[in-house]
Parts: sequence; structure tokens; C-alpha cells
Amino acid sequence: MLRQSFKFAKYTSFKIKHMKGLVLENKKVSLQDNLEVPSPKKDEVLVKVKYASINSYDVETIEGQSALLKKLSGAKTYPVMTGLEFSGVVESDGQRFRKGDKVYGYPDLAKGQKTHQEFIVINENYIALVPSTIDFSESAALPLGALTTLVGLENVGKIKEGYKILINGAAGGLGVYAVQIAKRLGAFVSAVVGPGQEQFIKDLGADNTISYKEQKLQDINNTYDILLDLTTKVKFTDIKGLLSPRGVFIPANPFNHLSAVLGNPFRKKKVGYLMVARGDSGKLTKIAKWVEEGKLISIIDKTYELKDYQHGFDRTREPGKRGRIIMKIADH
Ligand SMILES: NC(=O)c1ccc[n+]([C@@H]2O[C@H](COP(=O)([O-])OP(=O)(O)OC[C@H]3O[C@@H](n4cnc5c(N)ncnc54)[C@H](OP(=O)(O)O)[C@@H]3O)[C@@H](O)[C@H]2O)c1
Repeated sequence: MLRQSFKFAKYTSFKIKHMKGLVLENKKVSLQDNLEVPSPKKDEVLVKVKYASINSYDVETIEGQSALLKKLSGAKTYPVMTGLEFSGVVESDGQRFRKGDKVYGYPDLAKGQKTHQEFIVINENYIALVPSTIDFSESAALPLGALTTLVGLENVGKIKEGYKILINGAAGGLGVYAVQIAKRLGAFVSAVVGPGQEQFIKDLGADNTISYKEQKLQDINNTYDILLDLTTKVKFTDIKGLLSPRGVFIPANPFNHLSAVLGNPFRKKKVGYLMVARGDSGKLTKIAKWVEEGKLISIIDKTYELKDYQHGFDRTREPGKRGRIIMKIADH
């Protein structure tokens, strides 16, 4: 949907100068209403955020665990430091998107503005039109989980029809999409879940389930072509016996496994590098099409008002969630 006739125009007529957002200071979050509304630069649009999700990464950021990643990336420090994905309405004409377009996406994890604020500016390559069949809240629950697991399965795992796949952490924000996408791509899916999640995850398409409370991964008597770990708790040495000769282990946190990710240049790599740090218009459009065709559904655990952000962060820390926690950012 390239709209070349709409040349980049710096956004000048926007009247609102201040906005609400969640500000992180000294490991404490507060809701403030006097934040400056950002202005888009070349290749960016201004977006009014309707809904944004709360991710484990946000909780890790609040607790100071992702400080190293920020230092390594040289990221600017913005007052709002939480919120990765969003859905909303474009407020400025860009090169590809126009004022009024309903979009969803994922700003650059390390360098971009975060989404727990009423307006963001975002590179047009990181967004796509929302699926036409679902609302803004369902759209905000999709980009990060669907995109990351699509990249993990297709680009890193080189998934093929008939592949046997084990998804560890299958009921969480990433896992609910990993299960559906792996099935769409023709795999046989085994899903590792917590108590009470078995039927839910089978309904999403998993062929069988394993309870992490009842069985340790290393005791499973089977092999897999892809082992996708979305818990970041697995040690490669513990599970390498679960990999088939062509099998690959894909951890959601590759930094926990750097030496194995780099591997021995003379041997086939058994650990894949998965890092999806920003949205991707092409893949988000493919995901939207799957949703519109009824091939992928968005899963929301709970939705909170912005003013109730603390409950949202608390829920994110709890076990037993199904899919994403969502926050309503804009009232109108
Ligand atoms: N590499 C990348 O590009 C990338 C991108 C996005 C996110 N991530 C990372 O991916 C990870 C997962 O994100 P998420 O949003 O899906 O998190 P999440 O919603 O918290 O899901 C984690 C899941 O793991 C399950 N779990 C916990 N302990 C387990 C165990 N011992 N065995 C098996 N399952 C267990 C949880 O089940 P219970 O509810 O029963 O505890 C939950 O369903 C995070 O660390 C995030 O930072 C990586």
C-alpha cells in the first residue's frame, strides 16, 4: 500500500501538545499527564495509541533487568520506558500511511519510544493496517507475539510441513501464537503448559500437551525438530537430547545462550538466534490477513484501564495467564 503521492510532510497542525503516559523513575511507575507529544521525522508517523499490551519485558524493565540491553544499544532514555506493542490511529500523513489509518505495530525495542503513552511517533516500516475483522484491543495483543514466533519458526527454525515441534511456555503472550502459527505451517505441535491450560491450548490447535508441573523437559521420551523455549528457564545442556538430528533449540532469550548461539563454525548450529526488536510491515500484513481469514486468533488474558496500570503489571507477574495483558490507553 505504497502511497507515493503523499510525500513526507512534517506534522505541523497537530494541536494537542501534552499527553498522559506511564513514567518510570527509580523502579517506580507513575501516571503523568504533562508529557510532550512527540513530532514525527522523516519516515515516521504520529499515532494516537488506543491500546497497548503489558509484556514480561516491561516488568523486567521496571525491575532494572533490561538495563544492559539499553546500554549496549545506546538507546535514548525516554520518560516512558514500558509498552512494546500497540494499536491506534495515524494522526499525520506519512509516505505510506495517512491520517485516519488504523494501524498496529511494534516500535524499535531498544531505541524507540515505548507505547504506554497517548501518542507515539513510529517508523512506517514497523506498522501495518490492523486486521479488519477485530477491534483495537484484540489488535494490540498480536504484533509482538505473532511476529516473534513467526520469525522464530520460519526464519530461524526453517519449519517444514510435518516437523515435530515442542513449545515450552505455550499459554503465554508468545506461546498462544506459536502454537497457532506452527499448526498453520503444518507442524505436529506438543505444548508445555502450566496447570489448567491443557484444553485451552488444545483448542488453539496443539496436538498434545505436557504439564511442566508433572514432567521435566529432560525426561520427555521423544525428539523434536524445533524446541522453542518461551520461558527463558531452559539450559541447552539439559534438553539437547530432545533434538532430532536436524533439530534446533530456539530460546526466547538468546543472550542466556550466547556461546551456543555463536556455535562451532565447523559444526551444524543446534541453537538458533531469535531477536525480533521491532515491527515489520510485511509480516504484520501477513499476520493481519491470517486473522481476517480466521486462521489466527488474538488472545487476551485481561484488559485494564490506564489508571489501573499497577493491577496490569501485577497480573503480568502472576502464573496462569492466557495470552496477553492489555491496557486501554486513549479514552476517545
Ligand atoms: N527474542 C525475542 O525476540 C523476544 C521477543 C519478545 C519476547 N521475548 C521473551 O520471550 C519470553 C516469553 O514472553 P511472553 O510474553 O510469552 O511471556 P509470558 O506471557 O509470561 O509467558 C511465559 C509462559 O511460560 C510459562 N512457564 C513459566 N515457567 C515455566 C516452566 N518452568 N516450564 C514451562 N513453562 C513455564 C508460563 O506459564 P505459567 O503461567 O503457568 O507460569 C507462561 O505461560 C520473555 O522472556 C520475553 O522477554 C523474546
